[in-house]
Amino acid sequence: MEVIIKSNADEVSREAAAIFRRQLREKTDSVLGLATGSTPVGLYDRLVMMARAGEIDLSHTTTFNLDEYVGLSSSHPQSYAAFMRRHLFDRVSVARWHIPDGKARDIPRLCADYEEAILEAGGIDLQLLGLGSDGHIGFNEPGSSLGSRTRLKTLTARTVADNARYFASPGEVPRHVVTMGVGTIFDARHCLVLAFGEGKAGAVAAMVEGPVTAMVPASVLQMHPVCTLIVDEAAASGLERRDYYRWVYENKPAWQRA
Ligand code: GLP
Repeated sequence: MEVIIKSNADEVSREAAAIFRRQLREKTDSVLGLATGSTPVGLYDRLVMMARAGEIDLSHTTTFNLDEYVGLSSSHPQSYAAFMRRHLFDRVSVARWHIPDGKARDIPRLCADYEEAILEAGGIDLQLLGLGSDGHIGFNEPGSSLGSRTRLKTLTARTVADNARYFASPGEVPRHVVTMGVGTIFDARHCLVLAFGEGKAGAVAAMVEGPVTAMVPASVLQMHPVCTLIVDEAAASGLERRDYYRWVYENKPAWQRA
């Protein structure tokens, strides 16, 4: 895993945007895995700016979002579909986008179809991920099978509390979600994880330097062949080997840089 430490959240988004630019230059019709939450908002703003400036072209890409709340229709302002329209899809055009339907009647069918659609698109080239404060990726809470596929999950009380800030009251946060599984995420050719702030420091340390365990689903990325983690100083503060990660980045060969 490559660990990149930047001075602040804005620099993290800038570095992540450079990775997207490189990906799109290598393959204009890339299949992109997208994430929600506060973490990717700065990156999406940058991608929109770059697309409008003609620096990148997203119009041939196919996208798959990680997850969606069960019970929220795509028009609900807190649905992840509405989030993605607000931050990206209403601002730039992509060829096709996919988000699990939170109102689907047959959830197992929806999940199987989602997996099938990813396969049919040729698999995900670049998967963007945020990190839950408990080490979850997508909505794969601690204890999720590291081989899991897209399925229904029940949120932990901690995640409900973390996400309550987007709803009028904690009671309105849906308890159930559909999420790509850890195994689905692991199949992406490149995983790109972003994290900011002190609140993520424990999860970042466990993900990078702790044991690989289902209790920290993000830790499975230690076994991924191409995983990049970009964090700000605060999120890096629990990493024991942060000086080494800085050293590696400073000495990175020019051809490896985004
Ligand atoms: C939710 C999302 C995750 C996201 C996490 C962190 O649980 N399902 O994909 O990574 O929140 O959110 P934030 O970026 O707001 O800290």
